Amino acid sequence: METKLWNLRNDEPLGPQVKEAAALIAAGEVVSFPTETVYGLGANGLDGKACQKIFAAKGRPADNPLILHIAEMGEIERLTRGLSPMARKLMEAFWPGPMTLIVPKSDLIPDVVTAGLDTVAVRFPSHPVARELIRQAGCPIAAPSANKSGKPSPTNAQDVLQDMDGIIAGVIDGGSCDIGVESTIIDTTGKEPVILRPGGITREMITEVMGTARLDPGLVRADQTPKAPGMKYRHYAPQAPMLLVEGPEASLGVIRLAIMAEASEQRVGVIALEETLHHFPKGGNFVVHDGGKNLEELAENLFRELRLFDREKVDLIIGEGVRDQDLGLAIMNRMRKSAGHNIVWAENGLLVRKSGHVPECLQTIVMEP
Ligand code: TXA
Ligand code: MG
Repeated sequence: METKLWNLRNDEPLGPQVKEAAALIAAGEVVSFPTETVYGLGANGLDGKACQKIFAAKGRPADNPLILHIAEMGEIERLTRGLSPMARKLMEAFWPGPMTLIVPKSDLIPDVVTAGLDTVAVRFPSHPVARELIRQAGCPIAAPSANKSGKPSPTNAQDVLQDMDGIIAGVIDGGSCDIGVESTIIDTTGKEPVILRPGGITREMITEVMGTARLDPGLVRADQTPKAPGMKYRHYAPQAPMLLVEGPEASLGVIRLAIMAEASEQRVGVIALEETLHHFPKGGNFVVHDGGKNLEELAENLFRELRLFDREKVDLIIGEGVRDQDLGLAIMNRMRKSAGHNIVWAENGLLVRKSGHVPECLQTIVMEP
């Protein structure tokens, strides 16, 4: 299949440009489009056959349900059997934006979308292209992130094409995504809001509005199954093995480990905050990627930089972790998965293995717990 590319990176009105893509979606095809979080792989969310194509294109397991995207607040009403006051309060506070709500599903929704669950995930994105596309398609758009299953989510059209060229009907290029990590998923079917996936709407922001925001135990404990089916899969994985450095001295730890690995003939990829890179040695067989100045920039850059390492053929990636606070919670959720939970803790001048595996060339400077 030839994949069409629509370039919207200019100031022309969106309507006429999005028309062709929307018509393809209405006709049961799959089209990728930008949102404020990551690029989505969209199909008519009320057409089971069209949604099957999404699973096929991604190589996605059938037990991993999709998110339905809407273009107006009110469009959620016919997708659900009923909204709790909690859900309404969250919608008022954070929609349109990077928040997905889990609500009881209505009979309108094909089983393939919800993977047979009794609930459905709904999101009202703020991105103007996403909203115009949904409006013109005239249906809720089911859309997972537009990567092949297991890879980092794409945050620009080039990264979408890398995974989907020749496989889907088209890609709308609307430039780079602002937030860079996927939406916060909140389960609203219980007594209090439960975060199933951390994202751009932070736990702190939700707590401020709702008084409380629990984390799904499956997010924090290895012995609990996450409630969002997709969260149990290995994900965001670059081709090279990755080691994540956490703790109060993560910055220094990254530099020490990178130098050590490079000394044993490894081509070392590094992703770290700008401040850390100022202290990084010049020269050497390093491929250094700037994560940015702060959490917002790190979130925005993370997936693009991880994908670059695949093309640069590094042997090992060393990443700088940040604190599990604010946007840091969402960033660390992704980074730990990218690293396959290979984590080193840096504190008091010591490097200690926290979980997973440490490459052989680093075992002399990383202590066992
Ligand atoms: O920011 C985003 O949310 C992006 C953009 C495109 O909107 N979409 C996205 O979709 O990240 P996806 O499919 O990559 O992730 C959806 C997650 C999966 O972990 C899935 O298991 C979970 O949502 N999910 C979907 N329906 C669910 C449900 N009824 N109950 C619990 N988890 C659900
Ligand atoms: Mg995804």
